[in-house]
Amino acid sequence: MSLVTREIQTNFAPHLKDSIEDQKLLERLDLEAIPKHIAIIMDGNGRWAQNRRLPRVAGHRAGIESVREVVETAARLKLNILTLYAFSVENWKRPKTEVTMLMRLLKEFLNRELATLMDNDIKFDTLGRTEELSPSIQRELDLAKNKTSRNHGLLFNVALNYGGRAELVDAFKHLWKKKQNDAQDKLNLDEQAIADCLYTAGLPDPDLLIRTSGELRISNFLLWQIAYSEIWVTKTLWPDFRKKDLFEAILSYQSRERRYGGLSTE
Ligand code: IPE
Ligand code: IPE
Ligand code: MG
Repeated sequence: MSLVTREIQTNFAPHLKDSIEDQKLLERLDLEAIPKHIAIIMDGNGRWAQNRRLPRVAGHRAGIESVREVVETAARLKLNILTLYAFSVENWKRPKTEVTMLMRLLKEFLNRELATLMDNDIKFDTLGRTEELSPSIQRELDLAKNKTSRNHGLLFNVALNYGGRAELVDAFKHLWKKKQNDAQDKLNLDEQAIADCLYTAGLPDPDLLIRTSGELRISNFLLWQIAYSEIWVTKTLWPDFRKKDLFEAILSYQSRERRYGGLSTE
């Protein structure tokens, strides 16, 4: 095992052992320049199952292994924030059986992984209209949030019943109320005021946005926050996404120049 690999080895399960390919990619990564916040649109579970003539839910179940590997790898790389898009406000359009299964898998994941989150100092949180989810899911989410609230490592954010436009509507409603209670008219209606009312208030915007399964669209994810995120799309379907894919995405990110509308510094 190379030095760099050993340095960032943490107490992860043995299933996370690095392959030679993983190690080679890891050695090329600049560990001092890991993006602070990575957001992922996890897509392609259905197609993964379809390719194997399995029901769609088999793809969702297989996708959990990818979630586990990506969360653990993110913690290992000392990423500050990982935001995963798990269920959109539009996903209610799917058959009830699929939605029920997705919720059940979420519960199962939280139940099974809580100890690992604790072991790795990972803090769990959600973004989205979680108050519209079933009481039993909300209980499970609250339990995980409370239990991990004092952890200081990776912030593991799951977007659940999330929509970028819904978030903006909620933010504007919130801002409207603030303005009404602002007797001295001190509140400036600027970009910061809007950012402060988003679900992500206080968090830095994603540096890197990853989408799996090759679709070239945003699907209503973090519309405000990705204004200057670097985008990386892979044809890999989510259940096949492994740490090497995450390393490749970060390597691509590290080769780019972020200009934010300015001019090249080279
Ligand atoms: C992503 O996979 C998971 C969710 C949106 C919940 P999909 O279920 O969208 O899979 P495809 O896009 O149909 O292959
Ligand atoms: C985006 O995937 C939502 C999540 C990953 C939760 P979808 O499969 O719902 O998006 P579209 O329908 O392809 O745009
Ligand atoms: Mg999809």
